[in-house]
Amino acid sequence: MSSSSLQGRRVLIIGPSLQALAQGPLEGAHLEVGSLERLLGVGAADADLIIIDADAWAAQAMAAGVQALTLCPSPPPILLVGAHLPTSLVRSLLRLERADVLDAPYTPEHISTAIAGLMAQQAPLAIAPTQGGSTSRCWAVVGAVGGSGATTLAIEIANQLCDRQDPNNRVCLIDLNLADGATAAYLGSSPTMRLHELASAAERLDASMLHAFITPVTKQLDLLAASRDPTAFDLVPRDAILRLLEIACESYAWVILDMPRHRHSWSLEALAGCDEVLVVSELTVPALLAARSLSDEIERDMGTGNKPRILLNRLAARMFGPAPSMAEAERALQRKAEGGISSDWEAAAASVNLGGPIATHRPKSKIVKDVQVLVDRLVAEPLRRTTRAA
Ligand SMILES: Nc1ncnc2c1ncn2[C@@H]1O[C@H](COP(=O)(O)OP(=O)(O)OP(=O)(O)O)[C@@H](O)[C@H]1O
Ligand SMILES: [Mg+2]
Repeated sequence: MSSSSLQGRRVLIIGPSLQALAQGPLEGAHLEVGSLERLLGVGAADADLIIIDADAWAAQAMAAGVQALTLCPSPPPILLVGAHLPTSLVRSLLRLERADVLDAPYTPEHISTAIAGLMAQQAPLAIAPTQGGSTSRCWAVVGAVGGSGATTLAIEIANQLCDRQDPNNRVCLIDLNLADGATAAYLGSSPTMRLHELASAAERLDASMLHAFITPVTKQLDLLAASRDPTAFDLVPRDAILRLLEIACESYAWVILDMPRHRHSWSLEALAGCDEVLVVSELTVPALLAARSLSDEIERDMGTGNKPRILLNRLAARMFGPAPSMAEAERALQRKAEGGISSDWEAAAASVNLGGPIATHRPKSKIVKDVQVLVDRLVAEPLRRTTRAA
């Protein structure tokens, strides 16, 4: 491996003397120097590679550090270097799927070769890759107007899908509102998709790189979301987004897209690769008219024959004011709505403030029940996808 292949990758080095490698095999990488405690619970969100200098620590502490690594659900690749390494330590380390050992004396070239070998190994995703992507299902959620509840419902739908899965089958929620997505904030998570890396990665994007972008939310739910960046839509090319979606669909049983309302160069292809497109409207006349237009535009321009389904969000008992009834709404839409989701401001606000799905913080909310009914119905539908984004 030339040092440039670590360009921009995050390397956690455990042992101060390893910093010298910054001028050689680790050139161009983002280095973090840590102590053995840093290995507790370390995962792909922390580093793309870990290098440990066994000589920097007492044997007992070192054994505890490696033990901590073996308890991590999906640690990054690990290279252990040192002189006279104890056999028991080496054996424990090599139980990890992506680990290698270099016993002194070694040269910078030996280190580069060992790193290349480790980085070439695919990350063992905590998910069972689907057969060529053909059995994965991808649903897109898009708001007809701003604030209609698309992000809220994308999160609840993704969370509902987790509950019905085999525990090894995971759900990926992808926030494609690249500039100012709210999914991470709503879930109380830190976004870890690095847009500059994604932007330059279209061709080499693979499952292990995808894994490095992921924020685990629950045991079964992973999030792909980036930090706010006003230039994001200009920064990331179409090919990179479509490749990201393709890899996600190959890797997860369920992929839920929180789609931006405005169209980008990749929007139609992303939607055409989905089994379901859910347009979220609220119950006001302008929102219903926008939902009808957006749905017609998507159906016409996608060219797959698939019709988006319209969800009416924040349905309230008609006690005050002239809000349309469901029947009036369907007249305005000139079609049947797929489903209605009740209004429950307290549950929605409490959940975003606490960080997490409504189903977690307010499991008895009508929103949870309505989303469950919707998801049950959609899951039972036959696949409607005709093409997959590629
Ligand atoms: N069924 C509901 N009942 C009550 N409040 C809701 C419901 N659905 C969403 N909300 C609230 O409505 C507000 C807007 O929701 P959300 O951010 O999901 O909309 P959005 O369509 O994603 O918005 P944007 O256009 O900014 O992406 C939030 O405060 C959310 O908590
Ligand atoms: Mg949103």
